[in-house]
Amino acid sequence: MRHMFNEGTSIDDLKEFMAPFVARLGYKFNTETEFVDEVLESELEILAQTGDIYCPCRIRSEDPKEDLKIVCPCIPFYRDEFAAIKKCWCGLFILNEVEDGEELLGVIETPEGSVDVPVFLANDLPEGQIRHVKVGKKDIAIAHVGDEFFALSNVCRHAFGPLGEGFMEEHVVICPWHGWRYDVRDGTTDHPNADVKTYPVAVRDGEVFVSVEVKPSY
Ligand code: SF4
Ligand code: FES
Repeated sequence: MRHMFNEGTSIDDLKEFMAPFVARLGYKFNTETEFVDEVLESELEILAQTGDIYCPCRIRSEDPKEDLKIVCPCIPFYRDEFAAIKKCWCGLFILNEVEDGEELLGVIETPEGSVDVPVFLANDLPEGQIRHVKVGKKDIAIAHVGDEFFALSNVCRHAFGPLGEGFMEEHVVICPWHGWRYDVRDGTTDHPNADVKTYPVAVRDGEVFVSVEVKPSY
């Protein structure tokens, strides 16, 4: 069915195809329509690069059979997990019964002033690698070093390069554009006044959570 998608596919085409499919599984699009459009836009970019609508919040293994499990909508493969959190990993889809999808965008615990947002399964990011995730409107890079995960702003302070596409050297990420170096533990760099923000990270039941402050724009 997904091979019907090609370079002419639009966000509306995706919605038209997915809505009845997920409805049969008890899901609907998130009520946060701007967020839905952002995720689907990412899927169209992935479609253009790979020929398929892989999940924007998962990492492809490059094994086509295995990666079938992360073609959107992946709900049939993760029925129990998604039922427990009332949404898919990315939050593109929520259970029919959920009225406010924004509230559900990742809220598992609420330490004062912040929320813990599940971003991906720990096994999805091999040790020594870093990747970009979207948390609400924030662009965050998450690195896996040894047994630990670290989160920092995805945006390099030199010229906005994507740190989530950078290269790791132990606890240092090297920006892929011009090589500025940041310590993923505290966001520091050798360049004056150019440190980047970091975020607390936790791993629970094999899933990585990043803690972000709650702001009206989130
Ligand atoms: S987690 Fe959500 S967005 Fe990602 S493939 Fe599954 S259904 Fe699609
Ligand atoms: S944008 Fe990161 S080093 Fe230039």
